Amino acid sequence: MSVRILIGAQWGDEGKGKIVDILAPKTDLVVRYQGGANAGHTLKFNGKTFVLHLIPSGIFHDGCQCVIGNGVVIDPFTLLQEMDAVRGMGVEPAGRLFIAETAHVILPYHKALDKANESSKGEGKIGTTGRGIGPAYVSKTSRRGIRMRDLLDAGSLREKLDEALIEVNLHLSSLYDAPTFTADELIPDLLEAGRQLAPYIRNTSDMVHDAIDLGQSILLEGAQGALLDVDHGTYPYVTSSSPTSGGACTGSGVPPLAVTHVMGISKAYCTRVGNGPFPTELDNELGEQIRKTGHEFGATTGRPRRTGWLDLVALRYAARVNGMSELVVTKLDVLDALDEVRACTAYRVNGVETKVFPLGCETLEAVEPVYTTFPGWKTNTIGITSFDALPTEAKTYLDFIESYLKVPIKIVSTGPDRTETILIEE
Ligand code: GDP
Ligand code: IMO
Ligand code: MG
Repeated sequence: MSVRILIGAQWGDEGKGKIVDILAPKTDLVVRYQGGANAGHTLKFNGKTFVLHLIPSGIFHDGCQCVIGNGVVIDPFTLLQEMDAVRGMGVEPAGRLFIAETAHVILPYHKALDKANESSKGEGKIGTTGRGIGPAYVSKTSRRGIRMRDLLDAGSLREKLDEALIEVNLHLSSLYDAPTFTADELIPDLLEAGRQLAPYIRNTSDMVHDAIDLGQSILLEGAQGALLDVDHGTYPYVTSSSPTSGGACTGSGVPPLAVTHVMGISKAYCTRVGNGPFPTELDNELGEQIRKTGHEFGATTGRPRRTGWLDLVALRYAARVNGMSELVVTKLDVLDALDEVRACTAYRVNGVETKVFPLGCETLEAVEPVYTTFPGWKTNTIGITSFDALPTEAKTYLDFIESYLKVPIKIVSTGPDRTETILIEE
């Protein structure tokens, strides 16, 4: 039995989808625990590429049940489309996919608020995905949210929507001069979505506890990454949920003492989409080369991702905040052609070197990264499946990461495909 939390250890897009898909054959239950359709988790197998936004990345393995946990904010229309897309891949979600009745619903007004809020900020915007994530979590914490279970009861839905719309419409009209919403226009589509989703909606907390009692293997799939965490990330340039390991418990119902492993995923370099500090950013030709080689364009919005060197100060912070017990390094192959590879091993703040990750964006903007430089391996590593077969320089780089973080590397990814993976045995 294992209860493994799998988290992005950077600013998202570390390759979580691929790694969940690899671990899924040995897993009974995969639970997505936070975020929403801001996530884009890419899986590649049998020559096909598939991007999941809400459905857990275990869905392509028959023996694996998939839960969208209570901590996720769900756009029911996006979910229905994604279920159809999965059917198009020959997988029937019925009997395999379960949706927490207590997960909150993203409504069209959350997206309108997200967009209006971002446009009003101009240059100072967060650079959100526009999927309504922040406003949906605001509704949840202000206790005016609509939950998935409310889509199954017309009376309760109307009552809750009527109450929620008072504030939402005031907000939209007076603050942003934006169009408002009525319950009458929203309810028919929501009830229809509820009708279609009813067979999937249930008490998933109970399912998770039964799985723990039965000694099953559970994988808690995070979205985004530690540095986008609303508490521990580069606030305010963060998402509105808790991707870190604590969020895995609140977002799924798994009690902390049941957790056996915390697996953090990091690229061999660093990327970020949207605004906010990024100390090791390569805003130059080399950064462009890494973006091209690594196809660093958002899986959800298509936006170019900012690229930079691996930041071990930030990664050490992520390891500590999450209690990472194992590490996965992805996209090693993307660095294949480089003459040299760098990793940031300290920040210089006011002339003083430190390994402490500052918690204020202003300080983080001002740090000067201190780098350790490694010779490049200048060899093709794409598709390598054994650690021994890696070039010596790549092994040296990975060994350095492991010893800096004091977290053992369990998986190295050498390409987007399921097969392009090195599993490091005990
Ligand atoms: P996620 O959000 O963490 O699941 O990551 P994304 O799917 O948004 O972004 C990761 C991207 O890198 C996807 O396009 C993957 O197919 C790709 N990818 C994952 N692992 C590797 C790897 O080891 N090498 C290369 N070249 N691409 C990879
Ligand atoms: P996955 O799960 C990378 C970023 C957005 C923006 C900030 C807030 O694929 O790794 P939001 O729409 O959540 O309010 O946007 O967070 N962001 C992500 N960046 N990967 C993601 O998900 C992200 N989800 C949100 O770009 O900077
Ligand atoms: Mg992604």
